[in-house]
Amino acid sequence: PPVSIFGVPTDIGASKRGASMGPEALRVAGLVDAIAARGVDVRDVGDVSGPRNPVSAPVDGYRHLDEVTAWNRSVFDVSTRELQAGRMPILLGGDHCLAIGSIAAVAAHCRSMGKQLRVLWLDAHADFNTHELTPSGNIHGMPVACLCGMGPTVLTGFGGITPAISPDQVRQIGIRSVDPGEKRLVQEHGLDIYDMRYIDEVGMRRAMEEALEGMDANTHLHVSFDVDMLDPAIAPGTGTRVPGGVNYREAQLIMEMVADSGCLGSLDLVEINPALDRRNATAKLAVDLVESLFGKSTLMRD
Ligand code: ARG
Ligand code: MN
Ligand code: MN
Ligand code: MN
Repeated sequence: PPVSIFGVPTDIGASKRGASMGPEALRVAGLVDAIAARGVDVRDVGDVSGPRNPVSAPVDGYRHLDEVTAWNRSVFDVSTRELQAGRMPILLGGDHCLAIGSIAAVAAHCRSMGKQLRVLWLDAHADFNTHELTPSGNIHGMPVACLCGMGPTVLTGFGGITPAISPDQVRQIGIRSVDPGEKRLVQEHGLDIYDMRYIDEVGMRRAMEEALEGMDANTHLHVSFDVDMLDPAIAPGTGTRVPGGVNYREAQLIMEMVADSGCLGSLDLVEINPALDRRNATAKLAVDLVESLFGKSTLMRD
């Protein structure tokens, strides 16, 4: 389908500043031309706007809850508009709290179209905290929990139905940092996590086959790509780096296997922080990976 790219220049869900510069970093790295070069009809519809980052302390376990809500309302509206126009939304973050609005929109769209939804969550973190469990108050550590109905009503009600999704629709890849309380919640809800140990033991190919299993022509696949899934050696430009991440070849394989599924329906590219980067290397790598996601292949047999 045709693609609509939109930027969401905020770091409202994080405690380090700078992910707000992510949309421009991705544009400067050539994202739009790279997708167009795949023969895709792609349009950059510009940035959504929202409140400034007040850089304040958490209140009742949430940092910047009102501002996070406002940004996600706009994300929900733009994503919904593009989906209804028959276009594939690509969100340029911004931090990962924005997946609350984008995935709520996709979930509502799938319900109205009678489509199955699968969420592939590419991340070092499970992002399954609640205000009681969070060590930081940062809402970018909570989007999966919010989408599964665990969170403040202002963040769980986008799209009219709570929960927006159920844990059994989610597959997480690359996980290697989960807080103690968060880990208990993950286990309680049976979240399907392919962590780095599992990837080391069985390999990325098998992990991805399992994560994509059960999809068919009626499945909408949403990919939520937090660049901190990648090893910090290749992707230094992000605020919550964790050693031992996915390497370049594994990351390419993830994207190629998603492309081969033919099910990609929407995408978040989040947590790129140019203030921490090395000459925009992380945005350039993200663009490189998006090319594979849209079918670029170096295979000699295609
Ligand atoms: N688990 C940590 C927290 O709750 C880190 C979350 C990082 N999330 C992210 N989207 N980078 O604060
Ligand atoms: Mn992360
Ligand atoms: Mn509570
Ligand atoms: Mn994340």
